[in-house]
Amino acid sequence: MRLVRLVAQRFRNLEPFDLATDARFVVVHGPNAQGKTNLLEAVWTLATLRPIRGHKTRELIRWGDDEATVVGWVRGEDGRSQLRVDFGGVRRKASLDGQPVRDLPEYFACIRAISFTPSDATIVTDAPVFRRAWLDRAAFTARPTHLARVRDYERTLAQKAALLRDGRPDVGVLDVLDDQLARAGAALVEARVTLLRELVPHVRTQHAALAGGGDVGVRYRTDADGDDVPMRAARLREKLQAARVEEVRRRRSLVGPHGDDVRLLLDGHPVRQFGSRGQVRTLVLAMKLAELVAARARGDRPMFLLDDLSSELDRDRTRRLVHTLGELDVQVWISTTDPDHLGALPGADTLRIGMRGGAPEPVRNEPIAAGPDPSNGIAEPVPGDRSEQG
Ligand SMILES: Nc1ncnc2c1ncn2[C@@H]1O[C@H](COP(=O)(O)OP(=O)(O)O)[C@@H](O)[C@H]1O
Ligand SMILES: [Mg+2]
Repeated sequence: MRLVRLVAQRFRNLEPFDLATDARFVVVHGPNAQGKTNLLEAVWTLATLRPIRGHKTRELIRWGDDEATVVGWVRGEDGRSQLRVDFGGVRRKASLDGQPVRDLPEYFACIRAISFTPSDATIVTDAPVFRRAWLDRAAFTARPTHLARVRDYERTLAQKAALLRDGRPDVGVLDVLDDQLARAGAALVEARVTLLRELVPHVRTQHAALAGGGDVGVRYRTDADGDDVPMRAARLREKLQAARVEEVRRRRSLVGPHGDDVRLLLDGHPVRQFGSRGQVRTLVLAMKLAELVAARARGDRPMFLLDDLSSELDRDRTRRLVHTLGELDVQVWISTTDPDHLGALPGADTLRIGMRGGAPEPVRNEPIAAGPDPSNGIAEPVPGDRSEQG
């Protein structure tokens, strides 16, 4: 899938823009604090309906305004779609081809993205929640229905948390919730493990290609071990039962996949504790590339967003990376202060966007073949026109 046109209004520091982006590589360059990351975040937001991790929806809106809009036209295997997201305070409205979105997986069937940003180092170095979030995000990118699995589990967990906080939980209700948790949790863990099995060989290959050595180990640690969903559910039920008294006493949920972790090892040592900054970055990048390679093996073509590349990788690795990405044949968005750092890009299919004071300026756009105008045949929403809202 390729984002062929992007429009945004009142999005962070960006001046209103309407960009033709039909290129294999889109390179956003310029000095610091101009809005390069913000432009990539506009793409990410369109693809995931969320800000980049750690940010709040409200922060996406230009200071002093109370709503922001991003519209994108995507060309995928199944044709062209127009996606739109409007943010107002904590509200968020998505529409697909002019219709309000009711079925999120339908929206996400049109657009998927994988991102690599400097803050992603936390996936390796920080608390387990960051690794679970990565894995769930990756599982969601692979199969949007994963979202329902996560929500199922979280909903039940929230109910149980409320009950436990109460101090004197009804045992019957707790039994019912634990049973639901065991089932939802087992399905969640099975999906995570299945995806991890698919990713790990690619993590190793990508890591070897980037680092030139080092043996990566990846282990999923869970309360719900087993070979299939029923086994995992049974195991989880056992553990929940055993933890019951303690959970009631501490008024907290202590057992379940919300406490699982992905252990990452380099030559047998936990990277979280012993990895150097460079090793951490290389591993995270290998994990993200693994997602991309696995997606390609599945016949999928998510967009790949690389933020602040020059600060993350040295020249040689960057060039190798760019070469790999060229071969994977997906749309790649790169932000960098130094475009020369990237080396040779397939020039004929590269769009360079200079970013100054929030104003994106395409400096060269040479599409491979003179294709149809991206706007052809599509009802054009003028930025700021609210008529499509449901
Ligand atoms: N909601 C917002 N409204 C207006 N400006 C913002 C908002 N959020 C961030 N900014 C500003 O956007 C500027 C550019 O940010 P960024 O995209 O991170 O720059 P770059 O990636 O080019 O270094 C920052 O100076 C920041 O203050
Ligand atoms: Mg930046």
